[in-house]
Amino acid sequence: MNKRKILITSALPYANGSIHLGHLVEYIQTDIWVRFQKMCLPKEEGHEIYFVCADDTHGTPVMLRAEKEGITPEELINQVHAEHLKDFTDFHIEFDNYYTTHSPETRKHSEDVYTKLKAVNPSLITTKDIEQFYDPKKGIFLPDRFIKGECPKCGTKDQYGDNCEACGAAYAPTDLIEPYSTVSNAALVMKTSEHFFFRLSDDRCVNFLRSWIQEENHLQSEAANKMQEWLGESEKNNLSDWDISRDAPYFGFEIPDAPGKYFYVWLDAPVGYIASFKNYCMKHNANFEEFWNKETSTELYHFIGKDIAYFHALFWPAMLECAGYRTPTQIFSHGFLTVNGEKMSKSRGTFITAENYINQGLDPECLRYYYAAKLNGTMEDIDLNLDDFIARVNSDLVGKYVNIASRAAGFLVNYFDGHLADIISLDYGKSIELKQLESSKHGLHHELLNKVGLIQAHMENRRYNQAISVIMTLTDKVNEYWDQQKPWEKAKQIKNSPTELAMNHPIRFSLHLVSSITIECFRILTIFLKPVLPVLAEKAESFLNVDPLRWIDLKKPMKPGHQIKAYEHLVTRVDRKKIDAMIEASK
Ligand code: 2FM
Ligand code: ZN
Repeated sequence: MNKRKILITSALPYANGSIHLGHLVEYIQTDIWVRFQKMCLPKEEGHEIYFVCADDTHGTPVMLRAEKEGITPEELINQVHAEHLKDFTDFHIEFDNYYTTHSPETRKHSEDVYTKLKAVNPSLITTKDIEQFYDPKKGIFLPDRFIKGECPKCGTKDQYGDNCEACGAAYAPTDLIEPYSTVSNAALVMKTSEHFFFRLSDDRCVNFLRSWIQEENHLQSEAANKMQEWLGESEKNNLSDWDISRDAPYFGFEIPDAPGKYFYVWLDAPVGYIASFKNYCMKHNANFEEFWNKETSTELYHFIGKDIAYFHALFWPAMLECAGYRTPTQIFSHGFLTVNGEKMSKSRGTFITAENYINQGLDPECLRYYYAAKLNGTMEDIDLNLDDFIARVNSDLVGKYVNIASRAAGFLVNYFDGHLADIISLDYGKSIELKQLESSKHGLHHELLNKVGLIQAHMENRRYNQAISVIMTLTDKVNEYWDQQKPWEKAKQIKNSPTELAMNHPIRFSLHLVSSITIECFRILTIFLKPVLPVLAEKAESFLNVDPLRWIDLKKPMKPGHQIKAYEHLVTRVDRKKIDAMIEASK
């Protein structure tokens, strides 16, 4: 069989803010996909799957925040790195490497990409003088977000440079009346300086992008259409050259042979994917070149939010292609998170950080499950409705899935010392009653196995919501089977019988069989859910007394006589009080 080599990334979070539930949509979505791939394509069989990420550390906001806190940018990004890593670990996001863009590897590859773009003939790097707002007090050029002024339309003061909160007018920062710096309050002046540009509007880039966007499902159709719009109709295109430099002082990497000029953070951020993987390869002796050379047959997938599709679907592939690197296999964009149907908001207490969720003692796997139940692989936004969250998690996970284990394990342990019956080679000749035990000729577990292909296809295509829906329908079936078989009545008969019933007595045998089939179904459901609920699955493996479950184990039922352990607590109900406390703490 062909050995697949896959590199998967999530977008690099900025090193100047905390991870919140909106970020987690992406990291959880990616982590589920990675875990699913790793379960299907095990390392022991020669497949290689890597999941890397890093903090996105450069730029003016990081520089200014560090200054405000009286620390160096390096100190700030180190602190934030530790916080981010803790948040991700808390939510069971299992990176193979979580690195930083402030690294020698990022510097080296940013320089390499730049040098190669510059060296092609004619060069794809050019310079232009541009005029920008300058804060004379701080001595820095300011990004738009640090600029305020009077609305050019209605005259309301203290409006940001893109639109007015009072009248809703949209405009450019240069339209603001009396613009000032929110950093120093100084009146801004216009100042000219030389910037470096990547010539994205060059035919070589445009022609490449035109075909890349249309080919081989590189993008979801929605994203491909959007990019096509940006590219414009044939002959002329809408692309502008991309400004890739910023002037000192700037926290980032200085451009080779251009003192005082720095790479714009968005140039080195995606290079952080390369750098994080390179750092991994150096530590683990993996083959870096194999993944990044132009002729590679390895696969590269980027999970991103729809807001940064422009960077990942235009700049990034063009940069890679023209600098002689491989380009991405596919880019998966997702939508934003709303909470209770609205944009996350600090005043409503719905701007919830990862830390706050954990601090209330809420189970991270409940959020993973809820997101999975909502994610459909498109760019649509998803809503975290907190009432629905409580109801859904409690009903599906506690009421349905885990319930199966606690019910079946009880009888198996109490009546059979945890040993399983032979559900594979049943002797159907014994009695009519036994025949009826089976909901189909081959047993209920085979009905579950019939859905493996469907669930696998949904997972592969990131339609986790549909996978969960199929899995929950099967979970209902298992519970119905249990209710129809009424094993508790059999247990009662055994208990009330004046003499001990022999192992092969139909009543005893039937209780054994129903419980064994049910626990095998639970094992199968656990495999299906493992990418979403890795810790719960681990606890289930321990109580089932089986090795870590892989996809291939679906078809390997637990053997007759296999001994499970007593049921152990697997998941706690979501408590409304904790949700309320989380909202309060977020205000
Ligand atoms: O939008 C963001 O949060 C960026 N920090 C994402 C960077 S992704 C990649 F290009 F590095
Ligand atoms: Zn206005």
